[in-house]
Amino acid sequence: MLRFLVSLSVLLSYFRCCFSAASVVTCSGIVPMRYRNDKISIADFGGVGDGMTLNTKAFREAIYRIEHLKRRGGTLLYIPPGVYLTGSFNLTSHMTLYLARGAVIKATQMRRVGRVVDSEPFNCTDTNNWPLIPPLPSYGRGRERPGDRYMSFLHGDGLHDVVITGENGTIDGQGDIWWNMWRQRTLQFTRPNLIEFLNSKNIIISNVIFRNSPFWNIHPVYCSHVVIRYVTILAPADSPNTDGIDPDSSSNVCIEDSYISVGDDLVAVKSGWDEYGIAYGRPSSDITIRRVTGSSPFSGIAVGSETSGGVENILAEHINLFNMGVGIHVKTNIGRGGFIRNITVSDVYMENVRKGIKVAGDVGDHPDDKYNPNALPIMKGLTIKNVWGVKVQQAGSIQGLKNSPFTGICLSDINLHGVTAPLSPPLKCSDVTGTAFKVNPGACSELTSSEHTGSCSDYS
Ligand SMILES: *[C@@H]1O[C@H](CO)[C@@H](O)[C@H](O)[C@H]1NC(C)=O
Ligand SMILES: *[C@@H]1O[C@H](CO)[C@@H](O)[C@H](O)[C@H]1NC(C)=O
Ligand SMILES: *[C@@H]1O[C@H](CO)[C@@H](O)[C@H](O)[C@H]1NC(C)=O
Ligand SMILES: *[C@@H]1O[C@H](CO)[C@@H](O)[C@H](O)[C@H]1NC(C)=O
Repeated sequence: MLRFLVSLSVLLSYFRCCFSAASVVTCSGIVPMRYRNDKISIADFGGVGDGMTLNTKAFREAIYRIEHLKRRGGTLLYIPPGVYLTGSFNLTSHMTLYLARGAVIKATQMRRVGRVVDSEPFNCTDTNNWPLIPPLPSYGRGRERPGDRYMSFLHGDGLHDVVITGENGTIDGQGDIWWNMWRQRTLQFTRPNLIEFLNSKNIIISNVIFRNSPFWNIHPVYCSHVVIRYVTILAPADSPNTDGIDPDSSSNVCIEDSYISVGDDLVAVKSGWDEYGIAYGRPSSDITIRRVTGSSPFSGIAVGSETSGGVENILAEHINLFNMGVGIHVKTNIGRGGFIRNITVSDVYMENVRKGIKVAGDVGDHPDDKYNPNALPIMKGLTIKNVWGVKVQQAGSIQGLKNSPFTGICLSDINLHGVTAPLSPPLKCSDVTGTAFKVNPGACSELTSSEHTGSCSDYS
């Protein structure tokens, strides 16, 4: 009898395992996971994880070794438990950066911290550890200050086959000094991203914790085939511009199973701004955002406001948002040009939110006054379905542009409950067309009610 019960429970757990494994939908297969035979440790290069020693030289030498020895199948760089203080460094192709449980790669701040073992010049006021790089062509300048911008803490330009993973070790940007410079308006250049990949492909970032980025956390720009999974991204709610993940002029990006609690948008899909983004003309497309949970005083799932290269074929589903500014936010501006089309957001739970949904054609600032005011964005095909909200202060607004109405909006099965009343105050719309079905608290009259479901898919 006992034997029978034991084998029954084994059988049941087998079914539980394999049933759930089979039913989990994932896009992570767009980049194959790589296993590397060649392994080195940062300790082999003099890396010391005491939280005080500066390890910039160790990281740069380890990566130089990977880049120049070119071992077949690439090389894994192991970061043992400990706190490794370092200046920013470049990654290279065919590498895995593996952070053990308890490993922390910690950015130097703009002042001298601890004992300095590197021979490089390093003093209280300089920014040697934060090199400057040119602006992105689709931005024409730094995102927040004109001219150059600080290179991201971890940086990759023109790479392929890079994995950043491990046992949930931490990449810590020590952003507070940068946030204070922003608050005091003493920044000369645009703050660094925590990690930026430019012109790269086949990138995997998984099982890592990102903390206190000076600016945006993860920024893939002009990239394709990027998988970001099982990451945790944390920054205080009042930290300025600490967006979680910003796919920018990038295609085939898969973001799944992550928790993001930051001071700005959790995920924002972008593609450059105004005359620079229009001239560069590189869209963001084929991006999946799935099973993401988080909170922020700004937006949960965002498109824009930088969309001048175009944004299309975006799917966000199974999203849980708590204590948010705006749940779903599609934003662009006059002078942006570009297009936003075929965007689907579905199966969203939101709780304690200022605005459930906001679609706006006139938000965000401009790089300079040379933008073309006749460059109007085109928005066509936005489906939002299966949304359940509680404590939603306002359902929100859907506002196109008078000379470029937003078309193909389709809302269905949306229930937004209010804070004091059973339902939130209803949606406000202008310059939009589309359909609505089962929307509580009622859709605006601009969206015609549709009695048949499935009509959302036709956005043309
Ligand atoms: C890192 O990459 C940037 C941009 O590609 C480059 O300007 C810089 O010289 C590189 N730094 C090192 C230490 O290789
Ligand atoms: C700090 O370093 C910079 C560049 O290396 C140099 O121009 C500056 O004079 C130094 N400042 C001090 C206080 O030593
Ligand atoms: C790392 O964290 C993620 C997200 O919380 C979790 O799903 C995963 O199991 C953790 N991985 C390890 C190796 O601890
Ligand atoms: C719309 O986007 C989805 C991804 O969300 C994609 O599967 C589909 O093919 C796209 N439709 C068209 C007509 O491009």
